[in-house]
Amino acid sequence: MTGRFITFEGIDGSGKSTQAQLLANRLRAAGRDVQLTREPGGSPGAEEIRRLVLEGDPDRWSPETEILLFTASRRDHLERTICPALAAGKTVICDRFADSTRVYQGVTRGDLRETVDALHDLMIGQEPDLTFLVDIDPDVGLRRALSRHGTEERFEDFGVEMQVRMRAAFLELAMANPDRFRVIDGDGSADEVAARIDAVLAEMAT
Ligand code: ADP
Ligand code: TYD
Repeated sequence: MTGRFITFEGIDGSGKSTQAQLLANRLRAAGRDVQLTREPGGSPGAEEIRRLVLEGDPDRWSPETEILLFTASRRDHLERTICPALAAGKTVICDRFADSTRVYQGVTRGDLRETVDALHDLMIGQEPDLTFLVDIDPDVGLRRALSRHGTEERFEDFGVEMQVRMRAAFLELAMANPDRFRVIDGDGSADEVAARIDAVLAEMAT
């Protein structure tokens, strides 16, 4: 028996982490065995790569090197965390996955989408069963993200114009993959957004 692989995607500050955690809580309360995880990171090696890629000078890595680092971290995460959990029949909920690389590296950092796809095919080769795209107005997302004041602001530093482009790229990906994507309106309270997610899951179960 293999478990279900669910991912959350969206621009910074859209509410992915909040919704991933809330969904994990609800599924656990319903008796499901849930592995909640995130990218970049989710395994000890991948968390080390996360620090390399998200902290420090924004020009620290070329776009090509960055793609390699994100893919290396994903490969480790898949091997050590995601695949074992799925094999054990768990529901895996992951905060960002390959769609983030397609958008952030493939679209916003030069026309490298073909490179992203080729590396994905070669080294990852796995898609989620279901992806929630939490869609939010970029001004709202940026305001939420910047209010966190962490040390990991490399990508948020790109500003609102880049967030607009990334939002459009996520929506385009969702349109191109309607079988696995569900677009969720991220506006409103966290509970309101969670209720939208539950409504989609309930509809899919019928
Ligand atoms: P992401 O993981 O997409 O960057 P987070 O879930 O970390 O987003 O949320 C970013 C910030 O906004 C956090 O401080 C969080 O508490 C807050 N937040 C999350 N969801 C909502 C919401 N629906 N309304 C208002 N604030 C929210
Ligand atoms: P994350 O911690 O999810 O940020 P946030 O909570 O602000 O959404 O991800 C960190 C940053 O890494 C985020 O700006 C997006 C970026 N990222 C990529 O550029 N490529 C990737 O493949 C992934 C997984 C993340």
